[in-house]
Amino acid sequence: MHENWQVVIPEKRLKARVKELAEEISAYYRGKELTVVAILSGSLIFLGDLVKSLSLDVKIEVIKATSYGNGMRPQGEVRLETPGKMTAAGQDVLILDDIVDTGRTLEAVQKFLRARRPKSLKTCALLSKPARREVSVKVDFLGFEIEDRFVVGYGLDYAGKFRSLPFIAALPDPSLVIRHSSSQ
Ligand code: IMP
Ligand code: MG
Repeated sequence: MHENWQVVIPEKRLKARVKELAEEISAYYRGKELTVVAILSGSLIFLGDLVKSLSLDVKIEVIKATSYGNGMRPQGEVRLETPGKMTAAGQDVLILDDIVDTGRTLEAVQKFLRARRPKSLKTCALLSKPARREVSVKVDFLGFEIEDRFVVGYGLDYAGKFRSLPFIAALPDPSLVIRHSSSQ
């Protein structure tokens, strides 16, 4: 199944870079307790791998952001939901996302958290597509910059699929994917 994918970042490179990011983050927050706010669902696999390599006391919170629906283009407005009350007040908070595309999701989550008065607020993303940026957001800890192509795997999905691939791959012709899934 894997040989048909056009791999953009192989598993080994992902692992190595995630470990490096964890070291950078651990060095930056040394001696502090860190609250990681993971943006669901795309950052789940990244979150799991990253926190295992952090040498810090870590709290994990999640926030669900919806902007994509089932398509490949953003729908503009970002909706946010939290499973419970998010208390970020006085904490060192690091927002974790899978990919920064237009920047709107990260901007919305930053705004949401800033209003809760954290002690500090930084951002971390596995991937960034700078060519697609519509609002300027700072990514303090970034895994990889990639070209403007729709990618899946390692948490990233297309219409809810392909999140469990262990590598990042470019989506093959979406019409093939739809035909394939509807013939199941
Ligand atoms: P933004 O708000 O446009 O920056 O979009 C961020 C969200 O869109 C990410 O957290 C992803 O969930 C989704 N997204 C953007 N580009 C891709 C992609 O290439 N593959 C899968 N999801 C993507
Ligand atoms: Mg996402």
